[in-house]
Amino acid sequence: MANVTVIGGQWGDEGKGKIVDWLSSRADVVARFQGGHNAGHTLVVGEQVYKLSLLPSGIVRGTLSVIGNGVVLDPWWLKQEVEKLRGQGVSITPENFQIAETCPLILPFHRDLDALREDAIGLGKIGTTRRGIGPAYEDKVGRRAIRVCDLAHLDDLELQLDRLCAHHDALRAGFGEGPVDRERLVADLREVADFVLEFARPVWMTLNEARARGRRILFEGAQGVLLDVDHGTYPYVTSSNTIAGTAAGGTGLGPSAAGFVLGIVKAYTTRVGSGPFPTELDDAIGQRLGERGHEFGTVTGRKRRCGWFDAVLVRQSCAVSGVTGIALTKLDVLDGLDEINICTGYRLNGKTLDHFPAHSSDQAAVEPIYETVEGWSQSTAGARSWAQLPASAIKYIRRIEELIRCPVALVSTSPEREDTILVRDPFAD
Ligand code: IMP
Repeated sequence: MANVTVIGGQWGDEGKGKIVDWLSSRADVVARFQGGHNAGHTLVVGEQVYKLSLLPSGIVRGTLSVIGNGVVLDPWWLKQEVEKLRGQGVSITPENFQIAETCPLILPFHRDLDALREDAIGLGKIGTTRRGIGPAYEDKVGRRAIRVCDLAHLDDLELQLDRLCAHHDALRAGFGEGPVDRERLVADLREVADFVLEFARPVWMTLNEARARGRRILFEGAQGVLLDVDHGTYPYVTSSNTIAGTAAGGTGLGPSAAGFVLGIVKAYTTRVGSGPFPTELDDAIGQRLGERGHEFGTVTGRKRRCGWFDAVLVRQSCAVSGVTGIALTKLDVLDGLDEINICTGYRLNGKTLDHFPAHSSDQAAVEPIYETVEGWSQSTAGARSWAQLPASAIKYIRRIEELIRCPVALVSTSPEREDTILVRDPFAD
């Protein structure tokens, strides 16, 4: 049976929560494969609003939910998020929730380092969520991470702590901070170990067995392709690979498991944090998009930067992520505009470009080339069929499909689950 991989096609915050919730109600397993609690997924189920950062969205509906090895896990955050959701009546047990034993842990000094570095950089700062994501991934590839499975061996951590502290004590000294308090760290880990270990499993095995039994797996990506550490607007990116290809490596399944790749794409563009943004609008229209779209970060509360739809960037995202079809979200935010611009190319040093250049100074210097299309005055909010959309809204969607060279599978017209136009069911493929 078909699997579905959901990824963000822009800089995150594309409205993945609603789509993932809808798909997860039909999946047998939901798996997170990268990122950590830097993500912010809002799910509205009936009267209840659930805000998730680390747990896979399927947990809210009781679907088997797993955190794959590609995720970096803050064990204290996990405990807090599980307790918060249990407080909202969500059942979370080892029967419906598993964590890969090989997940690297985010430790308190990762968080400190994230903030110390951001504060020290000044103008060039990345604008991270300050949750220790980057430093934790650095320790993973530096082969000095403490992982979930280590929580069962806390009496035997000396060598690992030597490796970890040799690195971090030197860094901390440079920032005028004292060395890592090893005793305190182990004591803190001891406090949370049993809680985490209750859910620790060979997740790769769970998923391979589920696949062999023909179960439907939904891979839930976090952030967006433009924040991918290889394919994004480096260095203004997150520290993981956010493309669909990571679904396999970040869970322990082969590359053929990804199935239908659904790219979630907002009908305009937003970005939180620093970095280039060619179609950014510093005017009343940008302000209007932010207000109508409630563009404030779920994790940090920061105001999101807003701009026109950038077809060049989304075309690139779809290509590097192998997107099968897109879910276009927040179309209603554009209601009432007389004219709408779509970026179809860039101008740089007198040349025309049909892709985003690699270097950050070129990325900052490109000038968008716009095509202007007619807006619509009617409301598209809540539309559930093409017939309920004004002709110019349909034209806008069709033009986007052409420019990004990828078909629309879904159009989302409000946060409500049912307010969706379904063109092609990703699970039916
Ligand atoms: P980090 O992931 O905390 O290291 O932050 C790196 C960059 O990714 C910053 O620009 C963040 O604002 C951005 N970022 C991280 N997670 C998200 C997300 O879930 N949505 C949108 N932006 C994000």
